[in-house]
Amino acid sequence: MTLKVESLAKRYGDSTVFEQVSLAVAPGEFVAIVGESGVGKSTLLNCMAGLDSWDAGTVVHDDVDIGALDGEARALWRRRQVGFVFQAFHVLPHLDVAQNVALPLMLLKQADAARVAHMLEAVGLAGLGERLPQQLSGGQLQRVAIARALVHRPALLLADEPTGNLDPGTAAKVMEVLFAQTREHRASLVLVTHSEAAAARADRVLHLSAGGILPA
Ligand SMILES: Nc1ncnc2c1ncn2[C@@H]1O[C@H](COP(=O)(O)OP(=O)(O)OP(=O)(O)O)[C@@H](O)[C@H]1O
Ligand SMILES: [Mg+2]
Repeated sequence: MTLKVESLAKRYGDSTVFEQVSLAVAPGEFVAIVGESGVGKSTLLNCMAGLDSWDAGTVVHDDVDIGALDGEARALWRRRQVGFVFQAFHVLPHLDVAQNVALPLMLLKQADAARVAHMLEAVGLAGLGERLPQQLSGGQLQRVAIARALVHRPALLLADEPTGNLDPGTAAKVMEVLFAQTREHRASLVLVTHSEAAAARADRVLHLSAGGILPA
């Protein structure tokens, strides 16, 4: 399942965030995206997930033209195929940690407590399943978001600064979990990062600027 972005442009009124952005990410491939703050990295990830609209170009995943889907079809596609680690986590405050991680499986009617426990263990949160988000540190919340993005084994994994709040040791552990999912389940991983350690593990590092995206 290859992700293909072609000649994508995003504008707000007269101001262009980026244009002529083209890239392809194959199954099992890990692409890191770097670029300065405000250049549009989060916006580009949101477009790839069909969470934001764009002004020119196409996003195609495994022959599905995401721009041609209506809102409901996009939501269904996203539910099945996409794992998204948001820059701001977006953990649901009234659900405990295990319920947050289980959410993608619940939506797919594939509840699997053992899988949830495995994911919590993998990101170093074993034993914290019954805590509420407000009882966690920033780095622990980030790891809840990562476990939730991976639990349903998505074919497309989009992660926005997933190690931004973590110490180097925990960051390396979390990167290992993302990496393993990519290699073992042939997911396509697109990771936005300022971390050289994280980018160093990527198959390709691409630099986003207003005029397009190029090898860094
Ligand atoms: N509603 C809006 N109207 C106008 N401009 C907007 C709007 N929303 C976002 N922007 C602009 O779009 C640009 C891209 O934002 P985005 O969050 O994608 O950047 P980023 O590369 O992820 O930055 P960071 O590294 O700080 O997370 C920014 O310059 C931002 O100011
Ligand atoms: Mg961002």
